[in-house]
Amino acid sequence: MSQPLPSLRFSVAPMLDWTDRHCRYFHRQLTRQALLYTEMVTTGAIIHGKGDYLHYSEAEQPVALQLGGSDPAALAQCARLAEARGYNEVNLNVGCPSDRVQNGRFGACLMGEAALVADCVKAMRDAVSIPVTVKTRIGIDEQDSYAFLVDFVGTVAERGGCETFIIHARKAWLSGLSPKENREIPPLDYPRVWQLKKAFPQLTMAINGGIKTLAEARQHLEHVDGVMVGREAYQNPSLLLGVDREIFGVAAAAVSAVDAVRAMYPYIEAELQQGTYLGHVTRHMLGLFQGIPGARQWRRYLSENAHKPGADLRVVEHALSLVAERAIA
Ligand SMILES: Cc1cc2nc3c(=O)[nH]c(=O)nc-3n(C[C@H](O)[C@H](O)[C@H](O)COP(=O)(O)O)c2cc1C
Repeated sequence: MSQPLPSLRFSVAPMLDWTDRHCRYFHRQLTRQALLYTEMVTTGAIIHGKGDYLHYSEAEQPVALQLGGSDPAALAQCARLAEARGYNEVNLNVGCPSDRVQNGRFGACLMGEAALVADCVKAMRDAVSIPVTVKTRIGIDEQDSYAFLVDFVGTVAERGGCETFIIHARKAWLSGLSPKENREIPPLDYPRVWQLKKAFPQLTMAINGGIKTLAEARQHLEHVDGVMVGREAYQNPSLLLGVDREIFGVAAAAVSAVDAVRAMYPYIEAELQQGTYLGHVTRHMLGLFQGIPGARQWRRYLSENAHKPGADLRVVEHALSLVAERAIA
């Protein structure tokens, strides 16, 4: 039996095209404690793909690999690879509603196949000793009753041995809505997730969806074991500066947003030498000074200059100089 990670108390959600390794490295400068999730990686990409889809930096740890798939043997193989590479957790995506994902029979449509999800989790748990977790929704299509959710979680926990669930507190419509609409239109139902935790006190449960402040996060932590934040952490990353102190009760990682930017310099230098474009790293940093005078200039200067060939740290330093003195102080 593997213990849930203490860092699950606050995590940054898996977000395709957003939480790549550069993004996670940046987030790690803002919080030492939070658990960081990779983008979803399919078992097919890992097993048959040409690139190294598991590449990351140990400095990102604790980091969880999110897998997309529904073949127990393939998932077990990928979980084993993830553990060997030093990932701290593997997570199965049972929440993504995109058509592409449904064709592959994984993501949110798996909510309708609890026994298969249980088999997947069991195969992964048998293969590794790191925690195996499931990220899911509160329902799909017309299957949105509390009883349906209890049945799904109960089956995956009892038959699959899953001990940790991350619940996006809204249902998904499998057709008719785009993935983006599916993150906005179905209403959030936090009390349903809190109720679920009460029904399964032995399980570790984190809540996700629409959480924008650390005050809200602390309120949820009175009901559940963890809070996962997606869009707000990405679009307003300075939120993460308060996480270590306010959620974990330890000293903060970086003293200021500016310190966090400068802490990125050695990483950026090393990446530039490997041929990475500056913009591939700095695109994740654009929202950092949200609400501070000069934020727009920072964003615009980086957006316009960081993708130019040869762009280097001087671009970042200049962008910093455009943020008002009070942010720099
Ligand atoms: C751009 C983007 C990509 C996403 N990709 C994934 C993904 O790969 N796997 C996943 O489980 N959820 C994915 N999600 C959903 C988030 O993990 C999260 O559940 C959702 O955004 C709700 O949380 P939030 O309101 O805090 O953003 C994605 C969300 C966004 C905005």
